Amino acid sequence: MTTKNKSDKDFSIYFQPPSLTDAKKRGKEDIKVHYNFEIPEDMQQFGKDKYYLIQTYGCQMNEHDTETIMGLLEQMGYQATDDRRQADVILLNTCAVRENAEDKVFGELGHLKHLKAEKPSLVLGVCGCMSQEEAVVNRILQKHAFVDLIFGTHNIHRLPNLLKEAFYSKEMVIEVWSKEGDIVENLPKKREGIKAWVNIMYGCDKFCTYCIVPYTRGKERSRRPEDVLAEVRDLARQGFQEIMLLGQNVNAYGKDFDDIEYTFGDLMNDISKIDIPRVRFTTSHPRDFDDHLIEVLAKKGNLVEQIHLPVQSGSNEILKRMSRKYTREHYLELVAKIKNAIPDVGMTTDIIVGFPGETEEQFEDTLSLVKEVKFDSAYTFIYSPREGTPAADMDDDVPMEVKKSRLYRLNAVLAEFSKESNESFKGKVVDVLVEGESKNNSDVLAGRTRTNKLVHLVGPKELIGKIVPVRITDAQTWYIKGEWVPASAV
Ligand code: SAH
Ligand code: SF4
Ligand code: F3S
Repeated sequence: MTTKNKSDKDFSIYFQPPSLTDAKKRGKEDIKVHYNFEIPEDMQQFGKDKYYLIQTYGCQMNEHDTETIMGLLEQMGYQATDDRRQADVILLNTCAVRENAEDKVFGELGHLKHLKAEKPSLVLGVCGCMSQEEAVVNRILQKHAFVDLIFGTHNIHRLPNLLKEAFYSKEMVIEVWSKEGDIVENLPKKREGIKAWVNIMYGCDKFCTYCIVPYTRGKERSRRPEDVLAEVRDLARQGFQEIMLLGQNVNAYGKDFDDIEYTFGDLMNDISKIDIPRVRFTTSHPRDFDDHLIEVLAKKGNLVEQIHLPVQSGSNEILKRMSRKYTREHYLELVAKIKNAIPDVGMTTDIIVGFPGETEEQFEDTLSLVKEVKFDSAYTFIYSPREGTPAADMDDDVPMEVKKSRLYRLNAVLAEFSKESNESFKGKVVDVLVEGESKNNSDVLAGRTRTNKLVHLVGPKELIGKIVPVRITDAQTWYIKGEWVPASAV
């Protein structure tokens, strides 16, 4: 780990490409937790009268990292702007999970080249998951040499120092740690609105064969329960209405503690006692979802009845080659257990179509699983090969046309179930957290049920930020419509 600039020839010593063999040799050494972070004194006024803009491309974890970066920049005196021409710092917080996410970033760099030419004092940086890939860093060095700064996912707290270096250096400043660092606890975070993200763990040790995340995010490290609970209590005091607990595999929470026995179920149980109206979590891995957690979730209270449980495929052969480490039968059994304990649960999932070698029959196994579970909704993807992952070496013989048609067929089935599930809400009165005006029509408010269904409702603007009863009047495919029921009329 070190700071490099592009004139250094031995760059590769400090930067390793994703390698399954190396990454799996993860050390057992303890992760240290640091509580004493401070912006260096000489950087506290560095951003005075200057502006920043951050573009975020990835998952909720990535968006939450953006909140940390914003927190750091604002403690340095920078102010936010939406206007690129006004910005003194522009950062692209990138995602590497699929090729199209990466393409967008390279496209954007093409546009930013002109801006940089017009305003040479602009500091242009690339951070996030793409920075953790050697091929990406090399491509930026060769083709986008006007970039000033590259940093990764493990060293966000180093931003003040790196920004200073980038500002004064004529060379591109690159600092990417190929190995995860310790946990830095007290980084500032700029949160807005009524919902807040809270990391409970970092990294992933699952190594699904198609996935880049274990390489870009490092090994699983859980935050100490007392730190998570203190953060949630603080957010409750600040008036946030909803917390989303984040981890790539939240069910593995606590497995890395060697001094205490404390699981994700225990954490949820402790969080259920905190006075915050709604608590969600993402993402669950079916393999580690245990009975204790189901028992805790079934008590409901502030733990809402929604579970995102990525299945990826309904075929045992494909699941095996994805190294998901569960079978279709195990997944269905788990869903039955959850539905038995929480009958009104909203189930959502992630599905990949066109994994290397996927046959029509194997795809139909996915369709039949979807029909059996009747998911409320799903994120669906065409498989995208990621360099350095085991699946990238598998024979990818499914033509793109076939992959696209499978995605289309899958989405059609999902839309049917989403509509069916939405229809079942008609006539009911449900609690809705009103989040703001609808994106397309400012006369309509938009909010979410406990099961995370999008609701469009008619009601006064004062309802924004509150949880209110809404009578559902109509169902569309991807949202439901309703009207506010004032308390006296319930
Ligand atoms: N940790 C989470 C999700 C991580 S990425 C989990 O395990 O569920 C989010 C989703 O992107 C995954 O669930 C998967 O469906 C999809 N995905 C990951 N790698 C992919 C790839 N190479 N091609 C297509 N989709 C992918
Ligand atoms: Fe990727 Fe999720 Fe599998 Fe981890 S559990 S390797 S993040 S798909
Ligand atoms: Fe993308 Fe990184 Fe999230 S690869 S999905 S931003 S963990």
